[in-house]
This record gives sequence, structure tokens and C-alpha cells, in this order.
Amino acid sequence: MGIAWESVSKRYDDGTVAVDNVSLVAEEHRTLALVGSSGSGKTTLLQMVNRMVTPNAGRVVIHGKDNHGMNPVALRRSIGYVLQNGGLLPNRTVLDNIATVPMLLGMKRKEARAHALEVLDEVRLEESIKDRYPSELSGGQQQRVGVARALAANPDILLMDEPFTAVDPIVRRGLQDELLRLQSEIGKTIVFVTHDIDEAFYLGDHVALMRPGGTLAQFGTARELIDQPADSFVETFISAGCLRSELR
Ligand SMILES: Nc1ncnc2c1ncn2[C@@H]1O[C@H](COP(=O)(O)OP(=O)(O)OP(=O)(O)O)[C@@H](O)[C@H]1O
Ligand SMILES: [Mg+2]
Repeated sequence: MGIAWESVSKRYDDGTVAVDNVSLVAEEHRTLALVGSSGSGKTTLLQMVNRMVTPNAGRVVIHGKDNHGMNPVALRRSIGYVLQNGGLLPNRTVLDNIATVPMLLGMKRKEARAHALEVLDEVRLEESIKDRYPSELSGGQQQRVGVARALAANPDILLMDEPFTAVDPIVRRGLQDELLRLQSEIGKTIVFVTHDIDEAFYLGDHVALMRPGGTLAQFGTARELIDQPADSFVETFISAGCLRSELR
């Protein structure tokens, strides 16, 4: 159960190899942190899950089923997706942003809004912001609304693509702690993309470190990567991260 990427590769139409023969798993009810430098194929791997990207080779298996046979639209509605900067609809209020997917899934507007209020509370946002537009929120609030929006349809799977990158380090640590608290309560299968190894170690039950060129450098727990780095690339990537946190 959970998500399995089985020997997946993706070459885009212009010939760019984004992901090269990667196999890894995201265990059910756990957080997998997908980490690597810019262009190492993280977003491509993430988008293979909800079929925004189709692999050229290999397959993605979700809860035991090849996702290739699943309806892409239904799949996207059943999987929460948090984009960088929250990915909110600018001309809809906070409440309507959160209520959107439940309504697409057939909930009545009134019911969806009532549900959205509950989710707002779940991510510890004040009810008073419900009628604001995204541009009227702080960066941290926008990120929280993004998380609320992804959770509103109560998906088993939550895909998060560098969701906390755009905020300052203190707000960011707060959001990370919120996510850990939330995850201990809701136990979703989370795939969390970041380029920050410290964030990956902090949030991930497992960590997959990608190498430039879209190959997997190492998959394991933070402890395993730290104690038994697969090679000098892994070692260097980890020590660069630790150096950064000391400088902060
Ligand atoms: N639609 C596309 N067409 C062509 N090349 C693409 C496309 N999308 C991504 N790429 C290329 O594929 C490679 C991997 O991209 P991807 O977005 O998966 O990386 P990433 O690890 O998420 O990077 P970042 O940390 O910058 O978000 C990059 O070289 C990128 O330029
Ligand atoms: Mg990306």
C-alpha cells in the first residue's frame, strides 16, 4: 500500500531526461521527503502520481493499483496537491478556495463552505480571514490555506511541492511543526518535495535524495543517510545542508 514508483523514467519532448530509472516507495500514513537540487526531477516524480506527467517507462502503483488505468481527473480530485506559494485562486476568497474541490466532488455550496470552516480550524487559521482574497494574506497564511485546500477533500494522499519555500525561516519552522502535528493526527501518505536537506530530515520518515540528471542517489531514513551515505555526493549534499543551518 502507499505509492510505489517502479523503474520510472521521463524524457520530455525536447529530449531532456528529467527522471532516469527511479524506484522508490512512499509508505502509507508516512511522509516521504523528496529532496535534491533544482532540476533533479522532483516535481516530475511528484506529478507522475496524479498523472500530470506520464512516465515514458515504468509505472506508478497507488494502493496496489497501476495509476495508468485511473481516470486522471478523478485521480487529481482524490489527491491533495499543495503547490509552491499555495497555488490559490486569486479571485476567490479563502473560504471558496478551500471549498472548491469538495464542490467539484459534488458537495453543495453551503455544506462545502461549512466544511471549509472546519478545515480552516484544523490548520489553525483564524475564521476572520475567511472572506479575504489570497493577496490580502501573509505568506505563511497563504501556505496554510494551501494546505487546508489540499486537505478539504480528505484525500489519503497529499503531494506537497516546496510548499514552505517562500516564507522566512521562522515562519517556515512554524509551518513545519504544524505539519508534523497535523500529520500525527491525520496520518496521510505525504510526498513532500524540498531542496533543503534539513527540511527533508525534519519532516520525512523516509528521504529520497535525487541527483542531477534525475537518478536516485539514496533512499532511506535520515539516520541511514547520515550514518551510511551511499557515496560522496550524498555526503557532500548533507554536509552543505548542515553548514547552512549553522550559518542561519
Ligand atoms: N515540460 C517540460 N518540458 C521540458 N523539460 C522539462 C519540463 N518540465 C521539466 N523539465 C526539465 O526536466 C528536468 C527536471 O525538472 P523538474 O521540474 O522535475 O525538477 P525539480 O527537481 O522539481 O526542480 P526545482 O527544484 O527547480 O523545482 C529539468 O531539467 C527541467 O528543465
Ligand atoms: Mg520542482
